[in-house]
Amino acid sequence: MERYSLLKYKDRRNTNSVKWDDLEEKFGRTDLLPAWVADMDIEAPECVREALTEYVNYNVYGYYSIPESFTDSFIQWMKERHGYEINPLWIRYSPGVVPAIYWIIQMLTEIEDSVALMSPVYYPFANAIRDTSRTLVDVPLVKDENGYYTMDLESFEAMVQKKDVKLFILCSPHNPVGRVWREEELRDLLDVCRRNGVYVIADEIHHDLIMPGHRQITAATAGDYDSILITLTSASKTFNLASCQNAMAIIPNDALRAKYDAMTRRIKTQSGSSFGYVAYEAAFRGGKEWLEQAIRLIYGNYQILVKGLKQKLPEAVVSPLEGTYLAWVDLSAYLSERDTERTIRDVCNLAVDFGEWFGRNKYENFIRVNLATSPDNVRQIVARLDRINTL
Ligand SMILES: Cc1ncc(COP(=O)(O)O)c(C=O)c1O
Repeated sequence: MERYSLLKYKDRRNTNSVKWDDLEEKFGRTDLLPAWVADMDIEAPECVREALTEYVNYNVYGYYSIPESFTDSFIQWMKERHGYEINPLWIRYSPGVVPAIYWIIQMLTEIEDSVALMSPVYYPFANAIRDTSRTLVDVPLVKDENGYYTMDLESFEAMVQKKDVKLFILCSPHNPVGRVWREEELRDLLDVCRRNGVYVIADEIHHDLIMPGHRQITAATAGDYDSILITLTSASKTFNLASCQNAMAIIPNDALRAKYDAMTRRIKTQSGSSFGYVAYEAAFRGGKEWLEQAIRLIYGNYQILVKGLKQKLPEAVVSPLEGTYLAWVDLSAYLSERDTERTIRDVCNLAVDFGEWFGRNKYENFIRVNLATSPDNVRQIVARLDRINTL
């Protein structure tokens, strides 16, 4: 980690970390190197600690209204980094991107209505559709031999019409396949949605974690889609602040915003934790250099993984990492005759997100590896995957 002056690796064992301390519960054993849950083994930017310390030292935690300075910092961030000019009146709160997805499904669709996604995709999308008793419509992404994924928009439009899809959940950048959607891809997708009357949730929580040579396009800036689109984002992935539990919904359309407000009034959840606002504002204002280093670290770790696997498991296919800090690895060449979960857990002693979680048994020989950790841990991951060769 010496090459990254602003990044500090953290041993997170015994700190109530889901990633490090819930291994027994999730995987049935504790001796695993964790590379699953999407948070970082790196301290948040120093400016976050300073802002929270000042707030903690004040030692009064009474009722708290959302500071204008927080809203300004978020607007500035979105303008500078994403070229998206947001009116402060469009911003709404949710305790997380996932809760907002649950709320929006319920506010824009009825029980049994069709809600679409493109697998393999972050599995809480499917859970949200099922948990709200909607009908899941999956239009899988298409993969080439290099593990590069694209959308099949012809099939998507056909399915939208056949199943009368009311809402689509977009993952941009796409977890777990690492795609940063190009502007034309987004436009083509959103055009299909607009002409078929399909609402879109754009989950852009990974929008700042973009690898060299790629550019994130906020869906809302790809064209005039305000009447169908709600953007969800947060500072939680960008700056490792997930436990602050604050997410932002950006809703430029008056009618959609009125629905969102009615929804949050009904469940009486309209503002978040003061700690989240303090942390996010500090990060937006002072975290840019930290983020640049974090991206370099992640990209370096991705290269360690790719090079290492090329040597040890040359037929593994690592999808090109354009965005996110999650590597998607196809181990079919080695594990198609084996139980992937048992092999990765009991032979490699790794805790990863298993491909099957993201889209049924089609991905049963895939794993998702979290790269937001130390280069040493990534080397360890490669060394442990090498044990597949002993089978
Ligand atoms: C695509 C995506 N959306 C949402 C989340 C989680 O969002 P939150 O913690 O704000 O609910 C994650 C976390 O991994 C994610 O990858």
